[in-house]
Amino acid sequence: MSTSSSSAAERDFRRDFLKIFFIFFLVLLICLSIFFLNHDENNKYTVQTLELNGSAEEGDALFKINCVGCHGITARGLVGPDLHSITQRLNDKEIIKQVTGGLTPPMPSFEIDPVNMSNLLEYLHSLE
Ligand code: HEC
Repeated sequence: MSTSSSSAAERDFRRDFLKIFFIFFLVLLICLSIFFLNHDENNKYTVQTLELNGSAEEGDALFKINCVGCHGITARGLVGPDLHSITQRLNDKEIIKQVTGGLTPPMPSFEIDPVNMSNLLEYLHSLE
C-alpha cells in the first residue's frame, strides 16, 4: 500500500516537474528569439545607415532641432559632452548605438530613419 502511494506521488512529482521544465523551456525559447530578432533588426539598421552617404547640412539641421538643448548650439557641450572630435573616439557603429540606444540617460533614445542617421553622422564627422 505504502509503496504504491509513494510511487503515485513520485509520478505526480515527475509530471509536475516535466510541466514546469517545459514551461521554463518555452519561456527561454521566446526570450532568445526576441533577443535574436531584435539583434538582427539592429544590424540591418546599422548596415543600411552605413551604406548611405549622408549630408552634413541636413545633419546640422537635425542636430539643431534634436541635440543642441544638451550638446550646445555649436556642439561644444552643455549638459551633454562636447562632440568635437567625437568621431575619433567612437566609431560610426558606436555613435549609432549612442543615438538610438538610450543607454546613457539623461540622453534619450532617438528613432531616426537610416537616411537621417547618416546625415547626423556626416555632420558629426564635419566637426573638428
Ligand atoms: C537630454 C539631453 C541630451 C540630448 C537631447 C542629446 N544628448 Fe547626446 N548625450 C547627453 C549626455 C548627458 C551624454 C553623456 C552620456 C554619458 O554619460 O555617457 C551624451 C552623449 C552623447 C554622445 C557620446 C559622447 C561621448 O563623449 O561618448 C554622442 C555621440 C551624442 N550624445 C550625440 C547626440 C546626438 C546626435 C543627439 C541628437 C540626436 C543627442 N546626443 C541628444 C545628453 C543628450
